[in-house]
Amino acid sequence: MTNMSVNPTLARIYRFFINFCDFEGFSTTITDDDHARQRPPPRRAHHRLRRTRTTGPASPTRPAEKKRLPEDELLHGTAPRGNVTPIGEEGAPPPASRPRRERAAYGAAHQRRRTTPPREPPRTGAPPRKPDKPSLPPRPRVPTRLPHTHYKGKPTTPSSGRTFTRQETEAKAWGLNFRDVLIALGRKEGDGLGADCAGIVTRVGRDCRSSLRPGDRVCMVAEGCMRQYPRAHEGRVLAIPESLSLETAASVLVPGLTAYHCLVDIARLRKGEWVLVHSAAGSTGQMAVRVAQMLGARVLATTSSDEKRRFLKDTFGIPEEHIFHSRTKSFAAGVMRITEGGGVDCVLNTLSGDGLRASWECMAPFGRFIDIGLADINANAALPMAMFSKNVSFRAVNLMWLGEVVTADLLEKTMRLVDDGLIQPPQPLHVFGLPEVEKAFRFLQSGKNIGRAVIRPGADDVIPRWMANRGAKHLIVPSRSGAASKAAAELVSNLTAQGVNVAAPRCDVSARSELDRMLAECKRNNMPPVRGCINASMVLQDTIFENMTLPQWDLTMRSKAQTAWNLHSLLPGNLDFFVLLSSLAGVIGQSSSANYTAGCALQDAVASYRVTACGQRALSLDIGWIGNVGIIAETAAYQRRRRTDQDLQTIDDTELLALLTMACDPDNPLSRPPPASTGQVLFGLRTPADFLAREQEPPAQFGRPIFGAFSYIPGSGTQSTSPPSAQAPVDQPAKLFRQAADAEERVQIVFRALARKLAVAMSISAEDIEPSKPLSSYGVDSLMAVELRNWIGREFATTIAVFEIMGGAPISRVANLVAQRSTIGGTE
Ligand SMILES: NC(=O)c1ccc[n+]([C@@H]2O[C@H](COP(=O)([O-])OP(=O)(O)OC[C@H]3O[C@@H](n4cnc5c(N)ncnc54)[C@H](OP(=O)(O)O)[C@@H]3O)[C@@H](O)[C@H]2O)c1
Repeated sequence: MTNMSVNPTLARIYRFFINFCDFEGFSTTITDDDHARQRPPPRRAHHRLRRTRTTGPASPTRPAEKKRLPEDELLHGTAPRGNVTPIGEEGAPPPASRPRRERAAYGAAHQRRRTTPPREPPRTGAPPRKPDKPSLPPRPRVPTRLPHTHYKGKPTTPSSGRTFTRQETEAKAWGLNFRDVLIALGRKEGDGLGADCAGIVTRVGRDCRSSLRPGDRVCMVAEGCMRQYPRAHEGRVLAIPESLSLETAASVLVPGLTAYHCLVDIARLRKGEWVLVHSAAGSTGQMAVRVAQMLGARVLATTSSDEKRRFLKDTFGIPEEHIFHSRTKSFAAGVMRITEGGGVDCVLNTLSGDGLRASWECMAPFGRFIDIGLADINANAALPMAMFSKNVSFRAVNLMWLGEVVTADLLEKTMRLVDDGLIQPPQPLHVFGLPEVEKAFRFLQSGKNIGRAVIRPGADDVIPRWMANRGAKHLIVPSRSGAASKAAAELVSNLTAQGVNVAAPRCDVSARSELDRMLAECKRNNMPPVRGCINASMVLQDTIFENMTLPQWDLTMRSKAQTAWNLHSLLPGNLDFFVLLSSLAGVIGQSSSANYTAGCALQDAVASYRVTACGQRALSLDIGWIGNVGIIAETAAYQRRRRTDQDLQTIDDTELLALLTMACDPDNPLSRPPPASTGQVLFGLRTPADFLAREQEPPAQFGRPIFGAFSYIPGSGTQSTSPPSAQAPVDQPAKLFRQAADAEERVQIVFRALARKLAVAMSISAEDIEPSKPLSSYGVDSLMAVELRNWIGREFATTIAVFEIMGGAPISRVANLVAQRSTIGGTE
């Protein structure tokens, strides 16, 4: 493999890695009781920053979920897995006045810490908590092993009986803090890994006052949020401004809020005042420098290396003589020299021991010393008291100690400053995929980092990287948006750094002339001839066929069929591989995406034509749905549908890569001309036998003759077409319906069947479905309505219109209609 065209970016597909997909949290996992320990809910109006909401109108290709269940529903929105259970705060004390509550929250958190003996940092000889024996410990020595950086696989189940003021988010990017490293090393206690993250709202507690909805992009500051579906009080969650990516938003949170809280709320730093920022090249240090400069304060900084010193000078314009070395006490003399003996008005301290005391000695009268390192505080170390005669104050700040009211305020103010461009996120952003999580921890542990480390569930460049790792030296990665996105730009720069000649041109491959032009341009730029091609382009425009507009049809169709045909026509005929990433949807059909299924079927036809008529290599890879990467994995609504339909098996990115390894192998007979192959492979298709073996009724489409040969249950010795009789009667509504004694019972049977169907589709509990509510209030949209209509037709032998399902009639009324119209006879 020397030169390949990867169309399009393929970037989107590889968002997650197998080992870490579907995780619930790192080994230090918070239980719901931990969650319940959160502070009582504030009574306040919600985020004004909502004006900067990012999602806006749902993108035409990626519908954002906007559904909210009614007020008396336990939760709003979609549940990623399992039954709906309330999220909220157990045993929350009765509401008190706001300041009291805040104080109580602080006090409780503080108390908890005081009563829990600190495990970190290592103690010197004297027993802790004896102020008369000051023994400032050295900076914690971090062992080389990170024993706790693996994931838990099981979701936690929230317990009941709470108020529902919390929100659940599917996290897509987590900030990594030094606190996490210490927890992972077992050197610090805490309520779990993670303190800040960004993602997509999945569920909203019933009593939430915020206007956030499932599908909204949000950021969150909450202890223990390093898990797939973190939950937090609504005060700790905020819509992400449109200008920020999820990763950038995540990078701002703890550092930004800490800096703002310390310098604005606590220090009340003013124009012209001197502030000493320790560890200024780190994320919090950078945010603090930004805030200080915004306020017009004069910044002195410390850092630990020449590289960081240069960075501070170049990035923030801090004069070199104002930057000191943080690993020795010599900075103190420098500070006093620059301030002409006056000292600094504020210190943002991260140092411990001698470093802390040296900083303390630099205070100007009325100075504010704010300790965010907390090492000496945790060690109960002593502080020379004489300095207090200068009216200085000493404060300690840990963002995790703050209650929801303060946190909400900080979130709003800080993110607004970032959105308005008044302060910038920490730079550079080091984004680690989940497989690199240990690397991320080590990176932070090394102390050499500048900027912020963010973990996200996957990297965008896995297929091209996979290709590069397999020896590809030249890659063309076209897409309609080109390298405009940050992810695409990163892809190009990463691969270039790896020595790969990569081009990510803007090109609509479905337009023949554009593709032609782009290929000519690549040739002019000395790209060698293309030797292989993977086509992974796709645009989804799902809607039921009756409602599908021509542009919707066209856009999806072109992204599959035209791209395949143009690539076939314009690329050399003697490619080593020509892989069309298609879908089983083209084989079994899908009511909600006729355009996509047709496009996939046409891709199959193009591959078949290449192989059989042209004698060229080609393979249409018809896969099910990819559970951990790509658009389905990223979009809750699509995922929910796939899980409900159960017609396709899910695969993950590792399996996909394995398939591609096989498909791109020029010696693989599957992509050779007949009789070896007809150019199509189905992977992950369920068969009627799969369902029957699990004592389930196969979906209707599996009744088609094409599946006739697949009803054989291995080991049974028989060809079966119906589920074994052992099937629970509750799963056989038609049978129950036939056996019902009277009309009333039939209505009840229909209602219960509808509730069960709805419960599975929406991941909620059937018991929570109320007959008096319309189906739409449980999130049934027009696509789901079509599925329900088809299912009702099959189960109860009757026709009911989509508008009758969606029209706002209570579920009991729908059940009545079905029971009345059913052509199934009375008692068997
Ligand atoms: N995700 C799944 O579960 C799943 C299941 C079965 C099959 N597949 C197949 O796997 C492939 C990738 O899926 P995915 O989930 O990664 O999709 P995705 O995230 O939506 O990515 C599709 C990519 O196609 C590009 N694209 C769309 N139209 C294009 C055009 N006319 N010219 C050039 N580029 C175009 C898009 O970039 P621009 O918008 O910038 O152009 C985007 O990068 C698709 O072929 C899909 O059919 C996926």
